[in-house]
Amino acid sequence: MPDARAERWSRLQQAAHQQAGRHLREQFATDPARAERMCVRSNGIFIDYSKNRLDDADLQQLFALADACDLRGAIHAMFAGERINSTEHRAVLHTALRAPATADIRVDGHNVVPDIQAELAHMAGFAEQVRSGQWLGHTGEPITNIVNIGIGGSDLGPRLVCDALRPIGHPRLRTHFVANVDAGRLNGLLRQLDRRTTLFVICSKSFTTQETLTNASSARAWFLAGGATEADIRRHFVAVSTHTEAVRAFGVDPANMFGFWDWVGGRYSLWSAVGLSIMLQVGPEAFGELLAGAHAMDEHFRTAPWSQNLPVLLALLGVWYVNGFGAATHMVAPYDHGLRQLPGFLQQLDMESNGKQTTRDGQPVGRATGPVVWGNSGINGQHAFYQLLHQGSQLVPADFVATLHSPDNTRPHHDIVLANCIAQAQALMMGRTPDEARAEMEAEGLSAERIAELLPHRCFDGNRPTNVILLDALTPRTLGALLAMYEHKVFTQGVLWNVNSFDQWGVELGKQLARRIESAFASGQSPAGADSSTCQLIDLARAALAA
Ligand code: F6P
Repeated sequence: MPDARAERWSRLQQAAHQQAGRHLREQFATDPARAERMCVRSNGIFIDYSKNRLDDADLQQLFALADACDLRGAIHAMFAGERINSTEHRAVLHTALRAPATADIRVDGHNVVPDIQAELAHMAGFAEQVRSGQWLGHTGEPITNIVNIGIGGSDLGPRLVCDALRPIGHPRLRTHFVANVDAGRLNGLLRQLDRRTTLFVICSKSFTTQETLTNASSARAWFLAGGATEADIRRHFVAVSTHTEAVRAFGVDPANMFGFWDWVGGRYSLWSAVGLSIMLQVGPEAFGELLAGAHAMDEHFRTAPWSQNLPVLLALLGVWYVNGFGAATHMVAPYDHGLRQLPGFLQQLDMESNGKQTTRDGQPVGRATGPVVWGNSGINGQHAFYQLLHQGSQLVPADFVATLHSPDNTRPHHDIVLANCIAQAQALMMGRTPDEARAEMEAEGLSAERIAELLPHRCFDGNRPTNVILLDALTPRTLGALLAMYEHKVFTQGVLWNVNSFDQWGVELGKQLARRIESAFASGQSPAGADSSTCQLIDLARAALAA
């Protein structure tokens, strides 16, 4: 590692070590301007990061680390279409998907923007037909239900956005998502649907993913079992993929295929034709707003100084806890029902991107990389797992994401949501001292003996970090900006850790072994060389499948 970087990493560790002995209460008490200084607003997003265990000098250390890792150069390389996904020898250009039509972005000398615009127009033409009721099912009725069949990046992004933007969705159309190959999901949904008015969107970048193709085949069999003919399939099945041949082989007419490109990673693909279900639900104009919000965040990321740069600040704060404080996880809590799928989306985005232990040049990274990202609706979480955040033995940094103006601004519901979001961040930061806990119990009238007994249980250390992320409102534009912000946070961390955030070799082994085990179910022979535990489990499963 070049000396400048090694030097910066070791300074970061020293700085974090010094902070470990300080309490945020004290930092707020001695610095009344802290909150005003440690916040940033851009693109309809306000982030208060003042409840983090660091001071201005620590931030400068983190900015210096970003410079030493040539973050500026890495950003330029990504936006310029360089093949930064080195193990797959691909460019990484999800940012081009949301660039204006006038942009000129080249891959191997070819401007990809006209191709992107043509595909967007193709999607918009189809979406308008379905939404207006011109696109008819095989019995002449308009579509009422859309089923997106896909998994991972071909599911989580569209699922999140469709959920978040449901209030502005087309009133006739209901959108469903099928990812799990467990037949319980597909069969349960199909029982509620009408073959005459259902449209399936089969979404798979590779069009080889076993779960998706199995679900798609079963959906097709269900459709045909209702008396429709093979020729009717074209009214009810469309595909989104980069692989025309595989789509054709599956039986979907390539005229009903929406394409994208190998330089769009699966977990970064909702902005491409993978977002077709979104466009069907909210319309081309709102989809355009989503792209515009993401593009505005791209520009912010490219140009804002580190001290004002939302994705960079979040990334540096994350690195601060992973590498300076040994935090192994990062919690995301949406305080908006529309964003309840955000933790699942971020889990793939972050963990599939930065769950790496090898540097870009093939060496061991030598320090911790991507944390376990997890979470759930904040309000629900408060009544389930927040106990550990407040009093557990692990440090769990968290993002609380809320919306100031909600379409369901019903009072007192929205008051309660916002009050809890703010209160939880405050409680995690402040904690409760023994004096405070004692005074409270005295006010409750508890005996001295009971107070002594309860005191250790009713104290909270506090000093637990959060970022409070407030959207002005949950609109296509702010949502686009929010998701692009997290994409760039993950990118920035990948640059600092010097890992390739755009491959995912770690998912391959399990897939290969599952295929062998499936063959073992059919053949009755355990896979050669399998361990005794695996053989025992195969035997049990085989017996159950045969019963
Ligand atoms: O197995 C992991 C993965 O390849 C993800 O990276 C991807 O988002 C998902 O599977 C689905 O892949 P596809 O869109 O090719 O079906």
